[in-house]
Amino acid sequence: MKRISLTQHLIEEQRLHNTIPSELRLLIEVVSRACKTISHSVSKGALGDVLGAASTENVQGEIQKKLDIISNEILLQANEWGGHLAAMASEEMESFHPIPNRYPKGEYLLLFDPLDGSSNIDVNVTIGTIFSVLKAPEGMQEPSEQDFLQVGTKQVAAGYAVYGPQTMLVLTTGNGVNCFTLDREMGSWVMTQRDIKIPADTAEYAINASNARHWFPPVRRYIDELEQGKVGPRGKNFNMRWIASMVADVHRILNRGGIFMYPADARDPDKPGKLRLMYEANPMSLIIEQAGGAATDGQQRILDIQPTGLHQRVAVFLGSKNEVERVTGYHQAT
Ligand code: AHG
Ligand code: MN
Ligand code: MN
Repeated sequence: MKRISLTQHLIEEQRLHNTIPSELRLLIEVVSRACKTISHSVSKGALGDVLGAASTENVQGEIQKKLDIISNEILLQANEWGGHLAAMASEEMESFHPIPNRYPKGEYLLLFDPLDGSSNIDVNVTIGTIFSVLKAPEGMQEPSEQDFLQVGTKQVAAGYAVYGPQTMLVLTTGNGVNCFTLDREMGSWVMTQRDIKIPADTAEYAINASNARHWFPPVRRYIDELEQGKVGPRGKNFNMRWIASMVADVHRILNRGGIFMYPADARDPDKPGKLRLMYEANPMSLIIEQAGGAATDGQQRILDIQPTGLHQRVAVFLGSKNEVERVTGYHQAT
């Protein structure tokens, strides 16, 4: 099989479909290079002294792991001098990071969850990096938080790197979803899946069931029906998977279907769900939709939500279309 590198793919997209301006292409190359560096650190583990907790908390009050901070630094350093960006925002930084004055500025905004699945770092389970690219608003001089608060449909690119048995990069620029595997000897991303499509039906679901006592009735009803299996209203058996790394759960769903849920629950009305709209839900929703799946917050399409804050949280239901539509329908019916 002919090997197509990420670089070649991006250049061909630019020529054939004109969907990727060269500035955006170079930006994606830089992000993907940073992910290689993160992958290298991840794979060193204890040998690279990258495991364990740091002594700091992030803006959401979560204890940061060393790798959260290392990955954040790698992404910042890799991206700040290239000239393609106006600013960056990260799950691990309270406010956004403008490009320092010593570097030229570009017209894009980059958002990322530098290390997703932090609770899995120290136990050698798959983790990842999620990113999203927006165009800075026309005429923007100095970037402000407001400039980042664009609806998910405005994302011009989104992707994730998954650090598992293989390191892979999954990318969309609004023209389908492709997957690249890192060839460590060559140091290059090689396309291994083209135009991935998620089956509309599935018999696999992912939810943290330890929160069941806090769920609202529509989620309870949906999960209860799945659990009843063949003898229940669904008339078939379902299987459950929960990796606790959104990247890894989404990657499974892209490959063989499924539904992933992190619902809002009755605990804290100020926290609608756990996942973050700008760094997790929006980029993953674009990828899922581009692969023929669906993504909602239970009421509406995630990509249509008008963000109100950089770190806002959102309920997430995403994956195989027919299941996402069903659980969304249960919410809308109440
Ligand atoms: P992060 O490590 O970036 O904070 O994200 C963790 C997220 C997500 O990856 C995962 O699906 C979920 O949190 C796991 O939550 P539980 O701890 O409730 O299982
Ligand atoms: Mn995350
Ligand atoms: Mn994270």
